[in-house]
Amino acid sequence: MIELGVNVDHVATVRQARRTYEPDPVVAAALAEQGGADGITFHLREDRRHIQDRDVAILKETVTVKTNLEIACADEVVDIACKTLPTWALLVPESREEVTTEGGLNVASDNGRIQAAIDKLQGHGILVSLFVDPDPHQIEAAANLSVEAVELHTGPYALASGHEQLLELERLKKAGELTTAAGLRLHAGHGLNYHNVRPVAQIDNMIELNIGHSIVSRAVMVGMREAVAQMRQILDLVSP
Ligand code: PXP
Repeated sequence: MIELGVNVDHVATVRQARRTYEPDPVVAAALAEQGGADGITFHLREDRRHIQDRDVAILKETVTVKTNLEIACADEVVDIACKTLPTWALLVPESREEVTTEGGLNVASDNGRIQAAIDKLQGHGILVSLFVDPDPHQIEAAANLSVEAVELHTGPYALASGHEQLLELERLKKAGELTTAAGLRLHAGHGLNYHNVRPVAQIDNMIELNIGHSIVSRAVMVGMREAVAQMRQILDLVSP
């Protein structure tokens, strides 16, 4: 069975648009668990644009499935991870200009920064996963860093269509073989949705998929009718 990690960042994005208390990613995580999530993923960005420190602390306390804290290789957030002790730390590159994580980590030309973050996290008993492009050089470099998992970046696959998408799928399959041959757990994520997820889930030895935006988008749509009906009911009670 493929494990489903549900990313709740986008719930926090809606909350931060008003800097209020709702919708709360903590509540969304509890509901995601009820829906069958095997893990909850949340990205504490250095600019705190969506998930806040308070969310990280409460999610760690309340989530009963695996917690997967996505962070950059930066001291401040690595220290927070070491204090919080999520099940997994998912290391990603981060830039302030990007709308979302745009590419995998450049593990192949790392100057020791990634390894230092891995050592610190693993020293606290946290499992480490590296978010990388499906590029053989990056997978080889990731395998040399003694991490527990590689998360393949499925963004380019998700954005492509037709023949290009098949080529991207082949890249993912080859990268998956290398990852498994290196003895690492195979994860994947980014841009996966209800239409494009199946071929990725069928890649040999795929263990875990992390999915956020499409699930939160669908949650808004499947919940809209009921949300409006509840407001209608309140107004009708005031003035039938
Ligand atoms: N994996 C990583 C490393 C990510 O940065 C994200 C986006 O936060 C995801 C998975 C989930 O991507 P999406 O929100 O497009 O499903």
